[in-house]
Amino acid sequence: MASISDFNIASTAETDREHRVLLCLLHALCDAVREKRDAESVGEILEQLIAFGEAHFTSEELLMRLNSYDDYENHADEHIHMLDMLNKIVADHTTGHSSRILGKAEEVLGYIDNHIATSDKRFADHVRRGT
Ligand SMILES: [Fe+2]
Repeated sequence: MASISDFNIASTAETDREHRVLLCLLHALCDAVREKRDAESVGEILEQLIAFGEAHFTSEELLMRLNSYDDYENHADEHIHMLDMLNKIVADHTTGHSSRILGKAEEVLGYIDNHIATSDKRFADHVRRGT
C-alpha cells in the first residue's frame, strides 16, 4: 500500500514536470513575440500560461497545506505576484501595447526561474525531509 511518503515523492516529481511546462510556455511566449506572430497566437499562449499557472500554483499551495509548510504565506505571495505580472502582460496584449510584452515576459521568466530555484526548492526539501 502506498504511504504518505510515496505520495509526497510522486507529488514532487509531478511538480517538477509542471515547472518544465510553465517554463516551456514562457519561452514559447517570448519566441512568439520575438518572431512577431499574430495577436491571436500570442493570445492563445497567454491564455494557456494563465490557466496552467493558476492550476499549478493552486496544486502547489494545496501540497503546502497538506505538509503543514512553515513558509506558506510568503510562497503563496510570490505566486500571486507572478500571476499579477502575467495579468499585466495580458492587459498590454489586449490594449495593443505589444512592444511592452517581451520585456515583461522575460522579467516573469527570470522571476519564475528564481522562484523555482529558491522557494520551490525549499518546499521540495521540506517535503523530502518529511518535516
Ligand atoms: Fe511555487
